[in-house]
Amino acid sequence: MNTPLKHIAFIMDGNGRWAKQRGLGRTEGHTAGAQRVSDVLTRVFDHWHIPFVTLYAFSTENWKRPAYEIKAIFNLLTCYLKNNIDSFVENKIRLRVIGNLDALSKPLRTNLEMAMQQTATFDTRTLTLAINYGAREEVLQAIKSLSADELKDLQWDQLAARFYTANMPDPDLIVRTSGEQRLSNFLLLQSAYSELYFTETFWPDFDGHALDLAIESYLKRKRRFGGV
Ligand code: IPE
Ligand code: IPE
Ligand code: MG
Repeated sequence: MNTPLKHIAFIMDGNGRWAKQRGLGRTEGHTAGAQRVSDVLTRVFDHWHIPFVTLYAFSTENWKRPAYEIKAIFNLLTCYLKNNIDSFVENKIRLRVIGNLDALSKPLRTNLEMAMQQTATFDTRTLTLAINYGAREEVLQAIKSLSADELKDLQWDQLAARFYTANMPDPDLIVRTSGEQRLSNFLLLQSAYSELYFTETFWPDFDGHALDLAIESYLKRKRRFGGV
């Protein structure tokens, strides 16, 4: 039997290509992608009973995109939060955010902070949104936060405690949609022993069945963590 799945993380990729295939604009791909999230979360939490889910929503490199697209993504995030905060509370889902929030608009930051506060005491289900997240930036801010004394004798756990993901288990399984087989600056150190699963399915088409295939693949794998 494999290590139980405590933390599943998704690199939600392929919204743009999904839209292009249908003759739609990239923004419509993001809208369709955002609509998939609730179903996936319900299946992860209620059917598979996985306590930690992380969604890569916006990377530190995604600022290279056209302004209209960035705006659309952040509008979707704002709407998603507004529409779902009641359901997080009702379903006792704790919301966390990883990433550098300084660059976000004040209203979005306020909404995120309020949602995190309102759900902070829930401890059985955690949804983490990676927004303006980049693993390299995470490592740098962690190191810069340490004093010279702390640095001298630094242990791994002490550094990891300064990451955005402090007190979160490392992801057991990272799923990336759309056929790309890379991590794109996502949880680079936390994924040291993660299982990786890549599917050709574009994120807006990623449904319960596609999720089940990913988890079933994970359950068949043998994790050794360097042992035999
Ligand atoms: C993922 O879909 C969403 C974000 C990166 C915010 P993409 O927008 O990257 O879609 P493709 O890769 O261009 O198809
Ligand atoms: C990774 O997807 C970031 C998110 C899914 C938020 P990208 O589409 O930005 O990654 P690359 O550029 O193809 O590596
Ligand atoms: Mg992409």
